[in-house]
Amino acid sequence: TTEDINLPIGIPLDRFIQERQSQFPFASGELSQLLRDIALAGKIVNLEISRSGLNDIEGAYGSKNVQGEDQQKLDVIANERFINALTKGGEVCAIISEEEDTIRELESSKGKYIIAIDPLDGSSNIDVNVSIGTIFSVYRRKSNIGEKVTMDDVLQRGEEQVAAGYLIYGSSCMLVYTTGYGVNGFTYEPSLGEFFLSHTNLKTPEEGKYYSINEGSYFSFEAGVKAFVDECKQNKVSARYIGSLVADFHRNMLKGGIYIYPKTESAPNGKLRLCYECNALAFLIEQAGGRATDGENRILEIQPTTLHQRVPFFIGSEKMVLRAESLLVGQE
Ligand code: AHG
Ligand code: MN
Ligand code: MN
Ligand code: MN
Repeated sequence: TTEDINLPIGIPLDRFIQERQSQFPFASGELSQLLRDIALAGKIVNLEISRSGLNDIEGAYGSKNVQGEDQQKLDVIANERFINALTKGGEVCAIISEEEDTIRELESSKGKYIIAIDPLDGSSNIDVNVSIGTIFSVYRRKSNIGEKVTMDDVLQRGEEQVAAGYLIYGSSCMLVYTTGYGVNGFTYEPSLGEFFLSHTNLKTPEEGKYYSINEGSYFSFEAGVKAFVDECKQNKVSARYIGSLVADFHRNMLKGGIYIYPKTESAPNGKLRLCYECNALAFLIEQAGGRATDGENRILEIQPTTLHQRVPFFIGSEKMVLRAESLLVGQE
């Protein structure tokens, strides 16, 4: 499989895409172009984030998104940057986004792909200089080119993803993605304006060193979740919770660990959104040898029914996720 073809560390993203595409004789380059468009928008958002304290784009935008969250200026800016880049690239006919109430059809309606995106993940961390990210999923449209985009086009199960990834705007800016043939990470070199291959064929340890959960909600967790958290403490597993899903996920994928956003009193279905947060990370973690469920069902098999639906989220090292699931089954 193409996973075995280990391309040399340090090659530019463009070259990597080219090499990988050459393995797919039928590929006509649209997905390659789409990935380039994502990378371009990521570079722009990274630049704006890196100087957000100077250009008055911190703080609240002054309106709420469809989920009733106070949109941050950078939520809205990032959303527009990705929409602009994807519109200009011409490969995407519509996007669904945390920051869009409903389907956003792009003028370039010739595109054969759909994007589901969380343009800025970890918004509460923007003003305090903590890592944040962007999460994206790519699907093929089901309707014909030129036709109106339908709910069937955008409410696809995660296993239909053609590609998925994230950008993390952290101590370094990285793009991590998969097209179903392994997970590869690229690190941005600002002086050259390019992403370079830095992490090839990422695999996550089956046991983990970290557990990530907001223990502020401990008393409203289900018994099985409480039991899992208690067991982590008994086993002296390190607690790491950044409040940016992308940053917690990235660390746990590299080092081994579990991230849980369970049902809580204020979030009876959990907080994270299936279509543009959970599905992408579930595809990635399975490609890296890990597991992602809602505590029982594989995330990738859940049939979405609404754009912004939330699901309880257990993701990371396989043995840790299975252990948490077994405690949920056994809970009184
Ligand atoms: P977003 O900023 O895109 O709305 O996502 C925030 C998510 C996730 O990134 C993070 O892990 C989680 O919300 C934190 O939620 P709590 O503050 O409730 O723990
Ligand atoms: Mn949000
Ligand atoms: Mn998010
Ligand atoms: Mn967001």
